[in-house]
Amino acid sequence: MTEAARRLLPSVDPRKLLEAAWRPHPGQRAFLEADAPIRVLACGRRWGKTDACAAEAVLNLLGTQPTRQLVVAPTLDQARLLFQRALDLLEAVPGPAPPKVRWTPYPALQLGPHRLAARSGHVARALRGNEATHIVVDEAAFVPEELVADVLMPMLATTDGRLTLISTPKGRNHFWRFFRMGEADGRRVWSRRAPSRESPLVSREFLEAQRSLISDRAFRVEYEAEFVDSEGRVFPAEAVDRCLVAELPREPEAPFWAGVDWGRYGDATALAVVCGNREEALLLESRRIDAPSWAAQVEEIRGALRPYPGVRVLCDSTGLGDPMLEALRRACPNLPAEGFVFTAASKLQLIDNLALLFDRGALSLRPDPELLRELEHFEARTAASGHRRLGAAGGYHDDLVCALALAAWRLPQPYRPTVLVGEPRRFSVPPEP
Ligand SMILES: Nc1ncnc2c1ncn2[C@@H]1O[C@H](COP(=O)(O)OP(=O)(O)OP(=O)(O)O)[C@@H](O)[C@H]1O
Ligand SMILES: [Mg+2]
Repeated sequence: MTEAARRLLPSVDPRKLLEAAWRPHPGQRAFLEADAPIRVLACGRRWGKTDACAAEAVLNLLGTQPTRQLVVAPTLDQARLLFQRALDLLEAVPGPAPPKVRWTPYPALQLGPHRLAARSGHVARALRGNEATHIVVDEAAFVPEELVADVLMPMLATTDGRLTLISTPKGRNHFWRFFRMGEADGRRVWSRRAPSRESPLVSREFLEAQRSLISDRAFRVEYEAEFVDSEGRVFPAEAVDRCLVAELPREPEAPFWAGVDWGRYGDATALAVVCGNREEALLLESRRIDAPSWAAQVEEIRGALRPYPGVRVLCDSTGLGDPMLEALRRACPNLPAEGFVFTAASKLQLIDNLALLFDRGALSLRPDPELLRELEHFEARTAASGHRRLGAAGGYHDDLVCALALAAWRLPQPYRPTVLVGEPRRFSVPPEP
């Protein structure tokens, strides 16, 4: 159907059109029917949060009122997921002409009087000052509070627009506070919490498998959508949140420090790069290296480190890590790479060092849900022998945390010019000429 023909049919309810492609489950229906200006949806993994928001974006695109919709997520890849899902649904809906779509520098589309764009939460400066009628923040518990309060909410002020925050919980941070506002006042802020099992698409077998794989606490957070506090955590959510920034506060500067945690049992190798010092460090890179062979992983690490001249690397060299370190040295003869052997005691020191940086708010990092989830579920347990053991809550990875801890291990103390006090220095001042 052409745009002109569609305009002749304003009476077709967009919901009816959408139903041809997508039907909400009862929880999603409740969300779509809520009409408060701010909605907070705290749900377990796979509940269908992203899908529900993509469907709503399509409903808005099919409406008669012009809209300017913005999807924001901690990373551009995540924002792109929601955007792509909205595009797929739009294509499956009978009626509208194809939208004009562009993918760079960020995904955006135009359909008649409507616009939809997807941005990462890393670009606060670029977003500031824009206007929107609807903003959806996917994985909202993982973006910095200032992004929501200081950048996104003002974008809605002039349009009287709507804000939707969807996420799995992450401790008791700003997302929890928004959620509580909804509990206190359902008119301005609507909030709802639902476990993954509410979705008919999430099978009981899948949930049972997850329950046996991950810790009880991790299951309660990820699949029951509980706002569990972070008492006794190695990396308390409040400390990590204090370090989260929408944009790094300054340009990266050498010296750079990298950490590599080699994947062992088919899991990926992780890489982190930091710069700065123990009072003001920046996390520049945190990612998994998924290349299929060891040789390809070494090659990928080499490529990933290229933007950081003079970078020094600390690698896990425990067991299998040792030949990997040798392979890295052979492939990059000019790269200063050293090994770190993990023992219960050395890992404790390494992780304590990282925890201290978080506690002191000395590390700035941009939101990355994978790393943030690992930090959240990283546990200290006391083994039967009485020793403290550190690691991911069973089933969770801790490779990104270990890579970051390795990178942060060698961060220097800040340079402070010291004033020496003591006896005045005795030297003769030459007479004025
Ligand atoms: N109403 C629906 N009809 C058909 N498929 C759906 C529906 N809701 C969700 N899905 C599908 O279920 C899967 C999970 O949905 P979605 O990715 O939206 O969940 P999520 O809660 O955002 O998960 P995550 O926590 O992993 O981000 C996707 O494949 C999605 O397309
Ligand atoms: Mg999602």
